Amino acid sequence: MIIRLDEIDSTNEYAKRLVEDGYSSDEMCVVSAQYQTAGKGRRGRGWITPPGTCLTFSILYRPGLPTEACPMITLVMAMAVRAALFDFDIECQIKWPNDIIIGGKKLCGILTEAIPDSDYKVVGCGINLNQEAFPEDLADKATSILIETDDCVDEDNLLESIVGYFEKYAESLTENKNLSGLMDEYNDMLVSKDKEVTVLDPKGEYEGISEGINQNGELIVRRPDGSKELVYAGEVSVRGVYGYV
Ligand code: BTN
Repeated sequence: MIIRLDEIDSTNEYAKRLVEDGYSSDEMCVVSAQYQTAGKGRRGRGWITPPGTCLTFSILYRPGLPTEACPMITLVMAMAVRAALFDFDIECQIKWPNDIIIGGKKLCGILTEAIPDSDYKVVGCGINLNQEAFPEDLADKATSILIETDDCVDEDNLLESIVGYFEKYAESLTENKNLSGLMDEYNDMLVSKDKEVTVLDPKGEYEGISEGINQNGELIVRRPDGSKELVYAGEVSVRGVYGYV
């Protein structure tokens, strides 16, 4: 089922309200909107984009997995977005855990949430399509498909393709209850693989080499002394030592 809205506060919030109001299907439900008045980003940040410039949608589904699996669902969505864009001849990479980047800048962000008192999860995704420019504070970090390719993609076709890939990858996650069937493919899409990263851990920043994800979706970071840290997406973020990527 796909619900297309012109304007809504947030497609993630809309999906949550569907469940609160008794939605009980086992099918995936896609909610897309032309404009979000209160779009949500990670860590309490907002995700506000001018009407019609960004593909904003959420997938509501029952993965049969606990709340702790939400970061893995984010990784699955990142794979789906990257694979679908590739079919449109748009080459991009994943910045663990929840960004898609192109030309060193962010094209897409993903936010997965567990829906309280239910076994549903909602994974929301915003992909910059048609912005010609970004505000000054974002200009060196954000980009759009139009800026990168001088072209527009058909929004409906892109959404359909992402949902198709998401169904495929999500099936593997549900079957294995981890990313064992997907992690090699994920690591091939990962921008930081074998590169130096800074881990922004609240207990103290450190640097190391990103070795890619394990089957739980944690990023394996090798410290200069050879020890390995498992970085959990919920706790910290990672950036390249030379900036955003
Ligand atoms: C981030 O990079 O911080 C995550 C951004 C997620 C934005 C999407 S847009 C569709 C869905 N609805 C929301 O309110 N947020 C997500």
